[in-house]
Amino acid sequence: MKDPKAPIGVFDSGVGGLTVLKALRRLLPREEFLYFGDTARVPYGGKPLAMVRRFAWEIAGFLLRQGVKAIVVACNTASSAALPDLAEDLSVPVFGVVEPAARAARGFRKVGLIGTQATVESGAYPRYVDLAWAKACPLLVPLVEEGLWDDPVALLVARHYLEDAPKDLEALILGCTHYPFLKGAIGAVLPGVALLDSAELTAQEVARALEAEGLLNPEGQGRTLHFVTGDPEAYRALAERLGEKVEAVRRVSLEEL
Ligand code: SIN
Repeated sequence: MKDPKAPIGVFDSGVGGLTVLKALRRLLPREEFLYFGDTARVPYGGKPLAMVRRFAWEIAGFLLRQGVKAIVVACNTASSAALPDLAEDLSVPVFGVVEPAARAARGFRKVGLIGTQATVESGAYPRYVDLAWAKACPLLVPLVEEGLWDDPVALLVARHYLEDAPKDLEALILGCTHYPFLKGAIGAVLPGVALLDSAELTAQEVARALEAEGLLNPEGQGRTLHFVTGDPEAYRALAERLGEKVEAVRRVSLEEL
């Protein structure tokens, strides 16, 4: 029997999943969260899918050992690589971010996708949505992890990737949870194009499912404990620049996974 007071585990390769965590916390203020950033191995996007799948299983196993009642794979690359297998095999509900982001695109006529190389090549999005254009943007995740989302270099890189996007694109799926931090640069290159991300719809799906399963926490305090595989203080500094107050962060060695 799962314990409604248990935390929800959320994981990403780095700080990108904080965009999803924020939406979850807004919708579910009484839940406790464990956030895992695999900062020693970020970025995932240029790695083989089989390797990313192994990382996802390791992290899910770690979170389960911490007693989570549900897992949110807040990373498009890991969702593309490890779902639906993780969801089928684990004993707790598992949520990815690909399907919610694709759902956000319904109703738009001409939709594009940007994501990591692994996500774009996995073909995960076309399972849910017809794409008029798709492009891998490998430099965008390192830009965010380097804290350069509002640096002029972000605009140059966005222009480099997006200048060949069809002129009549109506919506662009930000197929990586790091990309919402680059909305300023992306929006400046593609004015008038709706920029879609998965955070809100993923949080709604988690809230609905936990409620349906009687797993909402009636009395949590909304705390988050952060785990990282890289340097905890560098993570804290970056996360706080992104608006996440990090009260507690613990380093996890790769051997513990
Ligand atoms: C990455 O680590 O390269 C990407 C994370 C994501 O796909 O959301």
